[in-house]
Order: sequence, then C-alpha cells, then structure tokens
Amino acid sequence: SQCNCSGGTMAHTKIFAHRGFSEKYPENTMTAFEYAAAAGADGIELDVQLTKDGVPVIIHDRHVNRVTSGKGRVNSFTVKEIQALQMKEDKNERIPTFEEYLDWSKNHSLLLNLELKTELTDRSFIKELILPLLEKYEVEERTIISSFDHKALMVAKQQKPHIEAAALVHQAMVKPEAYLNLLGVEGIHFESSTLLMHEAQQLQERGVAIRPYTVNTRDKMMQFFTWGCEGIFTDYPDLALELRDQR
Ligand code: G3P
Ligand code: CA
Repeated sequence: SQCNCSGGTMAHTKIFAHRGFSEKYPENTMTAFEYAAAAGADGIELDVQLTKDGVPVIIHDRHVNRVTSGKGRVNSFTVKEIQALQMKEDKNERIPTFEEYLDWSKNHSLLLNLELKTELTDRSFIKELILPLLEKYEVEERTIISSFDHKALMVAKQQKPHIEAAALVHQAMVKPEAYLNLLGVEGIHFESSTLLMHEAQQLQERGVAIRPYTVNTRDKMMQFFTWGCEGIFTDYPDLALELRDQR
C-alpha cells in the first residue's frame, strides 16, 4: 500500500503519532497511545528494547533516567523491576511491555511503526520474540518495522518478507535506492531536514515509501503533504490531522 504519487493533491499522507501523542502525554505510555488513537492518528510509532529477562518493553532511551524515577540501563532491570518504576511526567504511568500494546491495539485499526532500538545487538530475539508476537496478534499486515540497525531489518525480512520494513537514517544518503534494494526494504525514514524534494520525488516514483521524522511545525507538515510522502512522524498528531484534512 505504498504511495507512488510524485506530490500534489493525490497524496494522503499517513500521520504517525511519534511515541504516541507525546506532545501532551508521557511518551511511549499507554495513555499517549490511547490519546493518539482518540485524536484519529493513522498509526503509532514506538520504540522497543529488551529487559534483563528478555521481555520487549516500550522505551526510547538506553537508560531509564530521563523518563522514570529510576536510574540505570533498561537491560539491567527485569520486567517486574522496570514496571515498578514511576514515570516522571505522571506517577500513575509505567513503562508498557510490547505485548500490552499489541493486546490493546486489537481493538483498533491503527498502523504500527515498531522501531527496534539499536541497543538490541543480539538479533536472534527478532526471530524468536518480536516476529512471533506480530503473528500472534495478527498485526503483520499493518506493521512497519524500522531501525537504525539495518542488519536487524535484513534479519526480519529474511524471516517475514511480507512484513513491511523501512531503514531509519539520520543523514543525507548517496544512492539510497540501491541501498534500500540491497536491504530488501520498502521504505526509508529520513530525519526531516536531510530530505530534498527532488530526491523524495525520485524515490517515490520508484515506489519507495518515504516517512520523515520528527515533523512538528506547520510548515514542515504542509511541505511533506505536498510532496506526497507516504507518512510523517509527529508529536502533534492533532495539528497534523487538522492541516492534512483541511487541504
Ligand atoms: O522512527 C522515527 C524516530 O522515532 C527516530 O528517532 O530518536 O525519536 O527514536 P527517535
Ligand atoms: Ca523512535
């Protein structure tokens, strides 16, 4: 379901709530996901890492320090320990497991952008844990796996070629198309300031799905809608939806 539009009014850019509705609610929490769904976002972007006892949990940083009352690396806590931590922004919130998210999302038709954090150096868990969960909860058709760890994407694609994948990149790239073909992925998630219009158009004409991150200003939102990008990641899904749907 990729958009091959080369820009203009045909495009219907999908709005992904970045870490949930993270501008208003604590990032990567069930509340942030609930409110993203309630706002009408097309999809949710979230970050997955493993606890010490091998449970996929949803948290962005390598350490728990910024968002919780605790201190230390995510993978130094068991799931029980990490879920006992309070979130700084809201003491009633805790770090969700990935399975909690999947269970909740059964009642929604949301797209999911699952970012595998690069901390996950032992890639065997993708095959053993993550892909079976996507199958169990029947969300393969609406999931895009992304990562800055491009080898992780190759591992996922080898196992499950029908699950969409996208390379995360934070710098401008030479010949992205050839590289994406090599990886065997359908899309590319650019840091939004590194993407040039003619590059985006060329890639889209060849069927590559482009989703810039993290798009938080009106001007940037309008720009990527006009370019016909397949999706954007934003902390402000409400604003993005308003601008998109009034076009
Ligand atoms: O997936 C897009 C974006 O989330 C990547 O950067 O640091 O917010 O995970 P980061
Ligand atoms: Ca992310």
